[in-house]
Amino acid sequence: MKITVIGSGYVGLVTGTCLAEVGNHVCCLDLDAKKIATLKQGGIPIFEPGLDDLVRRNVEAGRLTFTTDVAESVAFGEVQFIAVGTPPDEDGSADLQYVISAARNIGRHMTDYKVVVDKSTVPVGTADKVKAALADELAARGQTIPFSVVSNPEFLKEGAAIEDFMKPDRIVVGAEDERAIETMRRLYSPFQRNHERLFFMDVRSAELTKYAANAMLATRISFMNELANLAETLGADIELVRKGIGSDPRIGYHFLYPGTGYGGSCFPKDVKALISTGKENGHTLRVLEAVEDANEIQKHRLVEKVTRRFGEDLSGCRFAIWGLAFKPNTDDMREAASRVIMHELTSRGAEVVAFDPVAMEEAARVVGDNPRVRFAHDMMDALPGADALLIVTEWKMFRSPDFDLMKQALKTPTIFDGRNMYDPVWVRQQGFDYQAIGR
Ligand code: UDX
Repeated sequence: MKITVIGSGYVGLVTGTCLAEVGNHVCCLDLDAKKIATLKQGGIPIFEPGLDDLVRRNVEAGRLTFTTDVAESVAFGEVQFIAVGTPPDEDGSADLQYVISAARNIGRHMTDYKVVVDKSTVPVGTADKVKAALADELAARGQTIPFSVVSNPEFLKEGAAIEDFMKPDRIVVGAEDERAIETMRRLYSPFQRNHERLFFMDVRSAELTKYAANAMLATRISFMNELANLAETLGADIELVRKGIGSDPRIGYHFLYPGTGYGGSCFPKDVKALISTGKENGHTLRVLEAVEDANEIQKHRLVEKVTRRFGEDLSGCRFAIWGLAFKPNTDDMREAASRVIMHELTSRGAEVVAFDPVAMEEAARVVGDNPRVRFAHDMMDALPGADALLIVTEWKMFRSPDFDLMKQALKTPTIFDGRNMYDPVWVRQQGFDYQAIGR
C-alpha cells in the first residue's frame, strides 16, 4: 500500500518505518527542513533502540522516503496518518492546531479518496473536527471527493516502540464506514500474528480508549506510590506487598512499581487532558485529580528524604545522581522526576554531579545555565566527594555496581534509591545508609 505519515516525530517515524518494514511504500512528511535533511542522510533525530537500522534498511530498499513538500505527500498515500504533536495548552487540554492544519492540507491538495487516520493522541471529538476542517477545504475548492476519518491511537512505549508496533497487544481502530474498515484491516493484517488483535469500534470509543489506558496505568502508579509512603511509616515492605497483590491475576504485576513519580510525554499530559475533557463535559474526574496530585508529591519524595537527613539548607553539600531520563532506554527528559530533583537540590544550595548513559546531552539542554549542575563521564565518576547518591532512573547498568568502590568514593556511604534497585538488608550490611521507596 502507499501510505503518507504527516509528522516525523517519535510516533510518526516509528509508525512510518514499521509500515515500510512489512513492504508498504511510505512517505513521511515534516515541515522541519533540518529534521527531514537529517533523515534523508540516514540520521535519526531521536533515540530509540533499533530504529536507526530499520530506517536505513527501508530507505535503502526505496520503501521509505522523506519530504517537506505538502502537495507531494498528500498525493502519495491512499492512507494519510496524522502523527503531529498535541502539546498541552495552558489549561491542560490538548492543543489541536497542528492536527487541524494537517487535515486542512489534505483537503487543499487531495484529488482522490483518502483514509485520514488520527494517530496523534487527541481528545474525544477530534475526528469530527478533522472531518469538518477537511470538508471545509474541499468545499472551498468546490470539490466533493470522498474521504474517511479514522481514529487509531498508538500504545507505543518509548524504548520498546518497534517491538510494540511490530507485535502489538491490540490495535484499536475507530472507523465507521466499510471502505475505511477494509483499508485498515488490509493495512494491519501483517501485524495480526496468531490471533485477532484488531478491535474495530466507533470513533469516539477509540479516542477515549487511548486516554483510558494511560489514565488507568498512571492510577496504578500513583496508588502504589501512596501505598509505598504508607508502608514506610508502618514498617512494611512495599516490594513484598507488590508481589503479594500482583499474583492476583485480576491485578497483575505490571505497572505496580513505586518510584519517583511517572514522567514522560504521555502520562502527565494525557491525565491532564482527560481531566480537562471531563470538566468541559460537566464531569469531575476525582480519581484522576488525586492521581495527578499524588504524582507531583512523589517527585519531591527523594529530596524530602535528603533534607530529613542533611537539613533544609543544603549549601556545602554535593549529591551524585544516577539516571536522568524519565525512564531507561530513552534520552527523553520530558516531565522527568530528575528535573524536579535537580532543581530542588540546587535551589537549596547543593551541588549536583549527574550521570545518565544516554540523556546527558538532553539534560544539559533542559537544565540550561545552572552552575551548580555538572555531568560526569561515567557512573563512578559522579561519586567522589558526594555526600550521597540519588538513583532516579533504573538503567540496567546501575543494577550491580561495585559497592566497595562506591563506599570509598562517597563522602558518607549514603544511597537514596528512588527505584528500589537493591536488596536493602544486603546493602545496609555493606555499611550503607540505604533509603529506598516504601521499604
Ligand atoms: C506510556 C504508555 O505505557 C504507552 O502505552 C503510551 O503509548 C505512551 O505512554 P511511556 O511514557 O513511553 O509509555 O513509558 P512507560 O514505560 O509507560 O512509563 C511511564 C512513566 O511511568 C515512567 O516515568 C516510568 O518510570 C513510570 N512507571 C512505570 C512507574 O513509576 N512505575 C511503573 O510500574 C511503571
